[in-house]
Amino acid sequence: MALPTPDTLHLSRPEYATVYEPAEDTYLLLDALEKDRAELQALQPQICVEIGSGSGCVSAFLGQVLAPIQSLIISTDINPAANQATQETTAAIPSMAFEQCRTRFVQALDNRLQGNIDVLIFNPPYVVTPSSEIDVTAEASAWAGGAYGREVLDQLLPQIHTLLSQNGRFYLVVIEENKPEEIIGILAQHSLVGCRVLQRRAGRENLSILRFIRK
Ligand SMILES: C[S@@+](CC[C@H](N)C(=O)[O-])C[C@H]1O[C@@H](n2cnc3c(N)ncnc32)[C@H](O)[C@@H]1O
Repeated sequence: MALPTPDTLHLSRPEYATVYEPAEDTYLLLDALEKDRAELQALQPQICVEIGSGSGCVSAFLGQVLAPIQSLIISTDINPAANQATQETTAAIPSMAFEQCRTRFVQALDNRLQGNIDVLIFNPPYVVTPSSEIDVTAEASAWAGGAYGREVLDQLLPQIHTLLSQNGRFYLVVIEENKPEEIIGILAQHSLVGCRVLQRRAGRENLSILRFIRK
């Protein structure tokens, strides 16, 4: 039976005006996690991290995917309103332990998390924009990705292999303009094997979910 999409109705409140509302990219990510449910449960992940959690919809959904496995799900975002929204969204999943952290990527937790993340998820700001639009406002931080929509993601890519545990895996949302094959090539240099697990067209965006595991 399909898992329910987490409730994010509270995003209509004014304090959450800058928070990214779940959209087609979010839903494709939920579908990928649900498709991998048996594998994710078999992994028995102890620490999961979602970078850029926005509404918290994906973090909360991951909690549902993993239940009854007990895991710690850490959600980070640079937008404090997103941290608050994530806290509210994940509070509706009482069976799982959630923590929120306001930080870029996982910077504030880097030392603690090195080699310890079993499931890492990022739906980055992937839209192709002038570089000057990146992080101009909290809203822009949700979508403005600079050249090839890759400028934010490219800051994280060299760290992925150091963050993941031995059996860790990484789920990433991309559009074709981000050059998915090039991303797979970059992570392959760090012995991470990538593949497209889902692909869907949504308006002008050709969205894919890439999944990476160690060789
Ligand atoms: C496309 S939205 C995705 C939101 C949510 N994960 C979803 O799938 O609906 C990107 C999110 O990443 C956050 N973000 C952008 N740059 C970030 C960075 N360097 N570190 C952490 N979060 C970041 C934004 O504030 C925004 O909430």
